[in-house]
Amino acid sequence: MAKTLVVPKTENRREIYQFLIPQVQAVIADESDLVANLANITAMIKEAFGFFWVGFYWVKGGELVLGPFQGSLACTRIAFGKGVCGSAYKEARTLLVVNVDEFPGHIACSSLSKSEIVVPILDSTGQVVGVLDIDSDKLADFSKDDQIGLESIVQVLQKKLNG
Ligand code: SME
Repeated sequence: MAKTLVVPKTENRREIYQFLIPQVQAVIADESDLVANLANITAMIKEAFGFFWVGFYWVKGGELVLGPFQGSLACTRIAFGKGVCGSAYKEARTLLVVNVDEFPGHIACSSLSKSEIVVPILDSTGQVVGVLDIDSDKLADFSKDDQIGLESIVQVLQKKLNG
């Protein structure tokens, strides 16, 4: 069933996340297909905030492989521990990078990317199964509010995946 995203007319991201999180929950509630759900989550985040790049990488054979995304052409495979995504995978924690040029080993899929946040997705045993990666073309675009909001979205997804 097609749904329309409701985004409040505000610059306050905390408020936008408050609207977004229940809508993510509603959209994925009745769909069991992983790719379909990941695709819609990227579309909703992109539409709500207009970030430069929003996508998932999924763990396959011990490395991250590109999944559903919204944005420009991206790197398809990222090794464990490499770049911001591979580091979030290795460390199993959110990485918020204010300036990607200052992150050792940052993988520049696009030279337009200036700041980045990566949230790991865990299975029921705490193993990383994928990451949500968001890139901005503005420096220092992500704050604690984004971290809290995006981790909440990932928790909704984890509940769906892990029951
Ligand atoms: N910059 C990321 C790579 C993925 S793209 O930005 C889409 C990294 O360093 O892991």
